[in-house]
Amino acid sequence: MQIHEFERGLQGRVAIITGAAVGNGRAFCERLAEEGAHIVIADIADASDTVKAAEAIGATVLSLNVDATNPADVQRMAQEVMQRFGRIDILVHNVGKYEEEPFELLSFDQWRQMLDLNLNSLFLTTKAVLPAMKEGGFGRIIALSSDTVWLGTPYLTHYVTAKMGVIGFVRSLASEVGKYGITANAITVGLTAIQRPEQGGRVSSSILEHILPSQSVQRADEPHDIANVVAFLALPASGIINGQAINVDGGVARH
Ligand SMILES: NC(=O)c1ccc[n+]([C@@H]2O[C@H](COP(=O)([O-])OP(=O)(O)OC[C@H]3O[C@@H](n4cnc5c(N)ncnc54)[C@H](O)[C@@H]3O)[C@@H](O)[C@H]2O)c1
Repeated sequence: MQIHEFERGLQGRVAIITGAAVGNGRAFCERLAEEGAHIVIADIADASDTVKAAEAIGATVLSLNVDATNPADVQRMAQEVMQRFGRIDILVHNVGKYEEEPFELLSFDQWRQMLDLNLNSLFLTTKAVLPAMKEGGFGRIIALSSDTVWLGTPYLTHYVTAKMGVIGFVRSLASEVGKYGITANAITVGLTAIQRPEQGGRVSSSILEHILPSQSVQRADEPHDIANVVAFLALPASGIINGQAINVDGGVARH
């Protein structure tokens, strides 16, 4: 697709969002659907609520059962998307997991699992979508990282290492793929007030009470705050932003 200087929105673009059954990923699907994108959900969990939400906005939605740490699953995902839509424009690599553990108690298995889910999965999904993006002469790779990388939050050596790896990955990849019209950027996210029905609604008020005093913006960071940045980076007009890590956390970390 030709990129016009004044092209608006994401009409007809195809966006894959990993880990989109719940949480931030669902908000990303809704926001990209609002911009006119076709939505591909890649998750191991039932994503029917996200499907309904994106379809209600008017998007064409493909929901795939994909384990983002499994090479065969991820390759199949790219093939199915190409069969259905014939293009892949946007990858929002959102899959990730947060788990505190003091380093002295952290096992090598826990370390490996954390790197597998937060970082190795990014290698797999990017490998799978890059040929289609190159062929289309357009690509937006947007990977979710965490503001804990700037803060050096304790009990998270495995998580912070993986999320810092995400930033290293997009920085180096950006230098390789920018010439093809493809950008790779990361978003470092702060504690987000995700509605979790299983936890009776929002993120617990005690966590928010703990985090809000350190924010310069005195309100909770909501999934749609992150989704707006995802949509911004996905736009054709953002093609000059490459290899960056954008911090979205209400002003806790400065970077
Ligand atoms: N929520 C926060 O406060 C926060 C803060 C900083 C960074 N982040 C980052 O944002 C991203 C999303 O966080 P969230 O809180 O929305 O996550 P979440 O736990 O609410 O949702 C994660 C989704 O990923 C899916 N998933 C898990 N393992 C998978 C796998 N192997 N393959 C495919 N799908 C899988 C789950 O089914 C789920 O739908 C993560 O990368 C996380 O590290 C979140």
